[in-house]
Amino acid sequence: MSATILPKPRPGVLDIDAYRGGEAGAPGFARPIRLASNESALGPSPRAIAAYAALAPELHRYPDGGADALRRTLARHHGLDPERIVCGNGSDELIGLLTKAYAGPGDEVLYSRHGFLMYPIAAMAAGAKPVVAAEHNLTASVDALLEAVTPRTRIVFLANPNNPTGTYLPSDEVQRLHAGLPKSVLLVIDAAYAEYVQRNDYEPGVALVEASQNVVMTRTFSKIYALAALRVGWAYLSAPVADVLNRVRNPFNLNAAAQAAAVAALDDVAATDRAREHNDIWRPWLTRELEALGLVVNPSVANFVIARFPGERSRTADAGFEFLKSRGILTRKIGGYGLPEWLRIGIGTEEEMRAVVQACGEFLARP
Ligand SMILES: Cc1ncc(COP(=O)(O)O)c(C=O)c1O
Repeated sequence: MSATILPKPRPGVLDIDAYRGGEAGAPGFARPIRLASNESALGPSPRAIAAYAALAPELHRYPDGGADALRRTLARHHGLDPERIVCGNGSDELIGLLTKAYAGPGDEVLYSRHGFLMYPIAAMAAGAKPVVAAEHNLTASVDALLEAVTPRTRIVFLANPNNPTGTYLPSDEVQRLHAGLPKSVLLVIDAAYAEYVQRNDYEPGVALVEASQNVVMTRTFSKIYALAALRVGWAYLSAPVADVLNRVRNPFNLNAAAQAAAVAALDDVAATDRAREHNDIWRPWLTRELEALGLVVNPSVANFVIARFPGERSRTADAGFEFLKSRGILTRKIGGYGLPEWLRIGIGTEEEMRAVVQACGEFLARP
């Protein structure tokens, strides 16, 4: 019998280590404490839930393919030009579309050592080569990124703040990165956690987008707006790059309920403020409490922290993960990011934060 001949994907596709999301279930717990995916602690705005539900009788209608109301609301809210906003099915979709549109076989896509894992996945899916630049103190290094640029570099991805490290680059550093890049390279500033950042020297990327043709800022409704299930992302970009994205995206990439909920979430400014204030209280609290237990916590400006486990006497991050899971608490292992000694812990409710600290204390106190 002749060997079965199967259709073959493009070279590189089978080298992709498929993205694994945070775990959502813990045996024996109907409602585990979920701190594994940097989701919102407080849940969606009631206005967003109502807008989503109100769409039910209209499910036979195609959505607005241009997401006009959402783009106008975003433009009003952030003071932007709606023509230079493109929405996506989560910012993940925009990352993938930008990569496919601007990079292919023979091209390089650059990102930093502990940068968000979707960048190498998107690069490989496009047939391009992911290239990693070293970091300094778990923070992107502009010097290392610029040194890694070659004539083949097409895109530089910078998560600012970065997931999983929680660190950020101040705006003058991002400007220095942009100034050092050839104009032919697309700089994608992924600002998924921008709304949480409370630093005077931070800027999510709007100013650079306004000043240049080769910069894209991506944002999401999955974090502070608490709509991760609905998959809403958006990009602010120059008119030529917006034109490219609008050519390659699916015509109805954002479903109608997602568009309606996102508009309502943006308009509920008080809910967003509450979410930010909650994070401002509980991220420092969690950091202090974990440090008091002897863990090393990396300074974070986002809605999660990473904590380094001691490692000795089976007090490893992996053992800590399993222990917490056995208590119904789900955190994220980040060995896939080259950080096997660390766990990433999202900021949850007060009750969830107290439970994770208590359980970490018990884990570390074991004989
Ligand atoms: C840095 C970063 N970018 C993008 C995303 C993807 O977000 P979305 O839900 O909009 O696809 C995430 C999600 O965790 C993220 O951490």
